[in-house]
Amino acid sequence: MVEDPTLILVVEDNPANRELLVEYLEAERFDVVEAGDARSGFELFKVRRPDLVLLDVMLPDDSGFNLCRRMKSVSRKFVPVVLVTALHETADKVEGLGAGADDFLSKPIIREELVARTRSHLRVKRMVDKVEMYQAELARFNQRLQEEVDLRTRQLQGALADLKRAKELTEQTQQEIIERLGIASEYRDQETGNHVRRMSHLVHELALAFGLSSATAELFRQAAALHDIGKIGVRDHVLLKPEQLDEGEAELIREHTIIGASILANPRTELLHVACQMARSHHERWDGLGYPDGLKGDEIPLPARLCTVADVFDALTTRRVYRREPMSYQEARNEILQGSGTRFDPAVVSAFDQCFVRVMQAREAAEP
Ligand SMILES: [Fe+2]
Repeated sequence: MVEDPTLILVVEDNPANRELLVEYLEAERFDVVEAGDARSGFELFKVRRPDLVLLDVMLPDDSGFNLCRRMKSVSRKFVPVVLVTALHETADKVEGLGAGADDFLSKPIIREELVARTRSHLRVKRMVDKVEMYQAELARFNQRLQEEVDLRTRQLQGALADLKRAKELTEQTQQEIIERLGIASEYRDQETGNHVRRMSHLVHELALAFGLSSATAELFRQAAALHDIGKIGVRDHVLLKPEQLDEGEAELIREHTIIGASILANPRTELLHVACQMARSHHERWDGLGYPDGLKGDEIPLPARLCTVADVFDALTTRRVYRREPMSYQEARNEILQGSGTRFDPAVVSAFDQCFVRVMQAREAAEP
């Protein structure tokens, strides 16, 4: 690599001494600029940006110490300053070092010493320049890297936010579709129009009182909307008949559990799996006398056992085609308690009793 020409600034008021310094340095193929006082020396320093300065301590308009201090304060790069002096006092050298000088050269000038010290300081300067260059390059590289990282981070955050929004939208859509499907299953049965919403609330409250997690309670709440979906397949003249049903008609009504389970069969999600269990088994009884499978005790899936209590409580307290007057909450509560261990899972009834007040509040909150 070809080095740039080296420029040395000589500031010396004595013309003979200055000439000698310039002659010695030019003989070594250095470029030299010269000044005879501090003011012009400082101007040359700022304009020409020398690689090294040889500076007389005694100048007519200022001291070399002051000039050295000013040069060091305005220079962003390392420029060695060598004070040329006839002074030998330690105090002078201490002041020179305090002013930022890098070395001293004694008068009278000895040519070999001048050249050796000049070359030595220029070598140090080149090394310092390289280190500074690498540091600047490293700083630029780090800056670019940081900008790249910031950009990627922002892109990733944007993508994650989009994903979160899409997920929320999907969940909301799924929840709403399920709720509307549940309403569709009740649509023809005018007197139980809000049954689905009340049921969902009750199942949620029961699940929490039973000790299930809020996530599971929420899952059960959504799934409960579909417990009577099988009613879609029950004919109007049976479903809407105000009189007592005969055995054949009652059998047709009971089939809504089978129909519901077949609509929800082979589910691909946990939600529909639970919904399928509820649809099939919400008319099972703890003592095994329910339908459609006559399951007994723990054989009945837990979601269905919760669903049963919620379904019966809601039916007892609601006006329906086949019952004239609905029960009061207290009467319905007693009915549920009396069914513990026969019709209902005792643990679910216990949970129901614990949260009875909250259940009533949930019931009232769900009323239109
Ligand atoms: Fe049902």
